[in-house]
Amino acid sequence: MLAYNAFMKPPEVISTERLILRKPRMDDAPAVFADWASRAEVTRFLTWHPHQDVTQTEALMKRSIDAWDGDAKFRYLMEIKENGLLAGMIELRMEPTRMSFGYTGAQDQWGKGYMTEAVRAAIDWAFAQPTIHRVYATTDVENVPSRRVMEKAGMQCEGILRKNSIHPNISDIPRDCYIYSIVK
Ligand SMILES: CC(C)(COP(=O)(O)OP(=O)(O)OC[C@H]1O[C@@H](n2cnc3c(N)ncnc32)[C@H](O)[C@@H]1OP(=O)(O)O)[C@@H](O)C(=O)NCCC(=O)NCCS
Repeated sequence: MLAYNAFMKPPEVISTERLILRKPRMDDAPAVFADWASRAEVTRFLTWHPHQDVTQTEALMKRSIDAWDGDAKFRYLMEIKENGLLAGMIELRMEPTRMSFGYTGAQDQWGKGYMTEAVRAAIDWAFAQPTIHRVYATTDVENVPSRRVMEKAGMQCEGILRKNSIHPNISDIPRDCYIYSIVK
């Protein structure tokens, strides 16, 4: 009998064709700050305001590293094999029987298929685990590129979660979000 209440822990490194997904380090903070965390265009549909100072990004790196000692949230930085630059980050959130995720791409690397590659790898890992049967994520109804990533990764739109999540760079009123999933 499989332990269906067990949380699965993802590996610290996942390799794809063009990317290394790896645990963050404190010395990643300046690049993360410059490439996406400080940028209004990137954070528009996210749940947090752009960082004003690199110390905020250092705190994010610290939280991300510490979370790896827990059993629920595992954030990866996506390093481009060819040049060592960061393409973004993806966080895997584990629950018994299912996994969700969230992601942010480095603005200068948008449109090169990197996030789709990372999501596909995350889904492949999840479905190699016997206890995980569903992978899902949500996105603001206006976030067309994010919807496209999930569609390219084979996920299906299940509908709209009304007034689901505050995206404070747009409004203080919770926003409608699409929910996408893929099942085994
Ligand atoms: C969503 C995001 C992570 C995608 O990253 P990416 O590495 O550019 O993703 P990909 O290159 O794999 O795919 C992006 C797709 O969106 C499409 N796209 C980009 N802008 C678009 C627009 N304005 N309208 C329609 N499609 C658009 C791209 O053309 C591409 O699709 P295609 O391969 O069919 O041409 C990136 O746009 C981002 O970081 N956005 C800001 C943060 C964010 O919103 N995160 C998600 C929160 S749910």
